[in-house]
Amino acid sequence: MQYQFLESDELYTSVKTLTNVAKQAAAAVQKQAKKTEKLIGEIEKPINVPSLPAGFKVDVPHFDVTKRLNKLPRSWELPQELYKKHLPKYNVGTIYRIQELLNAGEGYIGQTVTVAGWARTVRDQKNLCFIELNDGTSFGGIQIVVEDKIGNFEQVAKTNTGFSLKVTGSIVKSPAKGQLIEMLVADPTKHEVVIIGQADPEEYPMAKGVQKPETLRQKAHLRPRGNFFSAVTRIRNNLAYATHVFFQNNGCLYIHTPIITGSDCEGAGEMFRISTIFDNDVSKIPQINGKVDTAQDFFKKEVNLTVSGQLQVEHFCISMSNVYTFGPTFRAEKAHTHRHLAEFWMIEPEFAFADLFDNMEAAEGYVKFCINYILQNNIDDLQFLDKRVKPGLIDYLKDIVSKDFVRCSYTQGIDILLKAQQAGAKFENSDIKWGMDLNSEHERFIAEKVFQRPVFLYDYPKEIKAFYMKVTDDGKCVRAMDMLIPQVGELIGGSQREERYDVLAQRIKECGLKLEDYGPYMDLRKYGTVPHCGFGLGFERLVMMVTGVENIRDVIPFPRYHGSAEF
Ligand code: 4AD
Ligand code: MG
Repeated sequence: MQYQFLESDELYTSVKTLTNVAKQAAAAVQKQAKKTEKLIGEIEKPINVPSLPAGFKVDVPHFDVTKRLNKLPRSWELPQELYKKHLPKYNVGTIYRIQELLNAGEGYIGQTVTVAGWARTVRDQKNLCFIELNDGTSFGGIQIVVEDKIGNFEQVAKTNTGFSLKVTGSIVKSPAKGQLIEMLVADPTKHEVVIIGQADPEEYPMAKGVQKPETLRQKAHLRPRGNFFSAVTRIRNNLAYATHVFFQNNGCLYIHTPIITGSDCEGAGEMFRISTIFDNDVSKIPQINGKVDTAQDFFKKEVNLTVSGQLQVEHFCISMSNVYTFGPTFRAEKAHTHRHLAEFWMIEPEFAFADLFDNMEAAEGYVKFCINYILQNNIDDLQFLDKRVKPGLIDYLKDIVSKDFVRCSYTQGIDILLKAQQAGAKFENSDIKWGMDLNSEHERFIAEKVFQRPVFLYDYPKEIKAFYMKVTDDGKCVRAMDMLIPQVGELIGGSQREERYDVLAQRIKECGLKLEDYGPYMDLRKYGTVPHCGFGLGFERLVMMVTGVENIRDVIPFPRYHGSAEF
């Protein structure tokens, strides 16, 4: 895989360690390159999205809202004060968060405070030592200037990238460019530098200069020590927070759906089995008629890790109206793409008395809120990512929130693809016809090239979608919708659910599933059924979109994918 940025997020190798480290670094780079090659070999090449044929133009399809369940669309906008996060002031004990000090402008000038964190760089001059200390609370660290009047100056001057330090000093106006304040450690009666933990520069990977994300992935526990992954982590955190702000303030209850389940929501059979009876010694596994005797297993039946919390969250929707779940999901797909993980997080809201169009309204409001939230609260992180990972990222995000998302039916989508193909667009899968499951190149072509903004594709042929989706009046399609994002592809999959008992029972049979496995789900259609809808947003795909990171493995703390579950 060709990653977008080649420079490290830890560029600032301290000058004094450079010579020592050079040899080891060269050897390490060679060794890593071999490992990385193996890793890169595992991932499929990025998708090639055909360019728009010259002169090819499509008008935004007309969207008929006359048949919708709720005549007036609901606004999912939240009051402005909810777009800005309240920042915590204090850390534990007497330690200040560096974010708090930097955010206060000149507010702390003249005060003596204590900070603690990890040295990003250390430079020593004759009587002075400059330490850039970062505690992860903000993109930038604080510059600390230590004078040789301090008792342990000699030891301090010998510290390096990665050392953990606790420093008490006074906040002063900085004479240096690009920073308003710095910390001065100059008064031995009041100030001190406590060296807490060491990091041998010859071994510490973050002290070794240029590092690629592929390399860092193999050191997942150290990744957040660098600019790149700590920026991604802060954005990921705020996206999770924004998710709760959005749904809580729109009256949705957070439901904790189970991780262990006996049902396969998506009906695709891509599940991880859970068992306590498996044994390395196969003769010890209870068997019956040549098969594993699941009746003797922990749950006395076959159970799996969930692929989606939807079925269970629906149970609460059909009694508590608007709900959502946000949890880990697991899929045993042997996919080696930039956008698939075996363990990922999903947000799944479910709305009662609502149809597919209400669903789109909510999904558009949610995604726009998340982007706006990060634009307001993580601008330093975004500026770094814009510079180093995806040039134009901030403009790309602003563009997404400024436009109405397009609503285009699957049938219209196929028509567009066929016309584009006739006009000369070259698709890798050129066998385009109604009924096909679209590939990522087709989806991205529609969003990225044709409409140049997010698109809801809706009303898909029922043969290519899950059993629970509401069948359209003509019996050919289901009321499914996918949200397709330029440069990302599918971010959301959702649908209006089939609330009619008989139609649902028929669909379960058609899909080759057993009706008896869906007893409680069918009960919801038996007692007080209501039209309802919902969607699932892949959280890592959201983080990818907002950070501009191309590989999903670089937006989750500990990626799990086929053949890899390290740490
Ligand atoms: O389209 P999917 O499979 O839909 C569902 O699971 C529904 N039960 C959701 C619902 O209606 N409540 O998955 C939803 C989203 C996808 O659009 C994608 O963003 C993400 O989950 N996703 C994955 N993300 C990372 N790795 C994978 N292997 C993923 N599979 C799906
Ligand atoms: Mg999907």
